[in-house]
Amino acid sequence: MTALLATTALGFSSMPATCETAAKEPPIPGKMPGTTKPSILLAQDVDWPPYAYLAMPPEGDYTVAGFGKDVAMGLSEVCDIEVEVTQATWAGCWSDDKIGADAKAGVYHGCMTYTHTIGSRPRWMEFSHSILENNKPAGLLTTLDETGTPKVVDVNGWAPTQDGLAVTKNACTGNTAFSGYEWVTPSEETLAAYENENDRALKTLLDGEADAMFVYADQAYTYSCADKDVQPAWDCDLWSGLGTKFAYIHTGMFETAFNGTTLTMSKRGSGLSKIVNPCIDKFITTKSYYDICVKHDFVDDCYANEFFPEGSDSTDPWELPTSEQTGDCSSGYCGC
Ligand SMILES: *[C@@H]1O[C@H](CO)[C@@H](O)[C@H](O)[C@H]1NC(C)=O
Repeated sequence: MTALLATTALGFSSMPATCETAAKEPPIPGKMPGTTKPSILLAQDVDWPPYAYLAMPPEGDYTVAGFGKDVAMGLSEVCDIEVEVTQATWAGCWSDDKIGADAKAGVYHGCMTYTHTIGSRPRWMEFSHSILENNKPAGLLTTLDETGTPKVVDVNGWAPTQDGLAVTKNACTGNTAFSGYEWVTPSEETLAAYENENDRALKTLLDGEADAMFVYADQAYTYSCADKDVQPAWDCDLWSGLGTKFAYIHTGMFETAFNGTTLTMSKRGSGLSKIVNPCIDKFITTKSYYDICVKHDFVDDCYANEFFPEGSDSTDPWELPTSEQTGDCSSGYCGC
């Protein structure tokens, strides 16, 4: 009796109720929890416009920006949720075909604009619903003066993941599986000379240390520096030459993903997707979502809602399987 009175006097009796309702999201060290609504910290790198980049004046004062951030900030229009976006390195999210050190340590709740690929990613990670249709097919990029034995280089940390190639069908050989290739990694010199994983893989290809590069089918378009007004965080010279120095011998390889570009990729079991999914489902039906799609030139790839004009769905060349490419390699996208 005396002991019970003592705990009550110290105020312990009121604690269980408060604790139960305290945090609305998984705990993050060094961050105040949301007590009345979820307070979510998301992370992005700045080398992948328009998905994730640095906004220069007049768009922004060197702030993190992109399609992902705009959607993330939009969620509080449709949900009782607070979202903060911080800069991160992609490798802290995902690298060497496994969860990155920062995502594992819970430095932030989730990383933005990752493709929900098959294979290794879902073994480690939990994905939210997508904010763009499955518009990120894989491709095989090759140099135009090489044939050689099939040595393939992957872009470390980026979709598609290596296991995606084995589940992909070769549209030029009656849809047989790709087989009989070996993976190579960039040399020490290349790793020292370049920081961006896409640059490292392309350099490996251009140096003839790989015969093909397994990469997003739209990456050469995304990294072409012609008419881009953002600060490129990659080597523009290396990436100039689609159709002259290098070209895709396979495009439209959609088998590598479960879903398109997601808003969040977090530690498996984190429960983050349960918090954000209802908000994403609502947000992609709004006019604000349409406006963000227009701003980032993604009208084609967004989930069309009532605010989208009729027939705003066209097909980009990288979405077609190679068997349906009509031009020669000079377009950058070879036919069979
Ligand atoms: C893919 O994303 C869409 C749109 O957000 C969603 O409706 C669907 O449930 C998602 N599928 C998976 C497997 O997450």
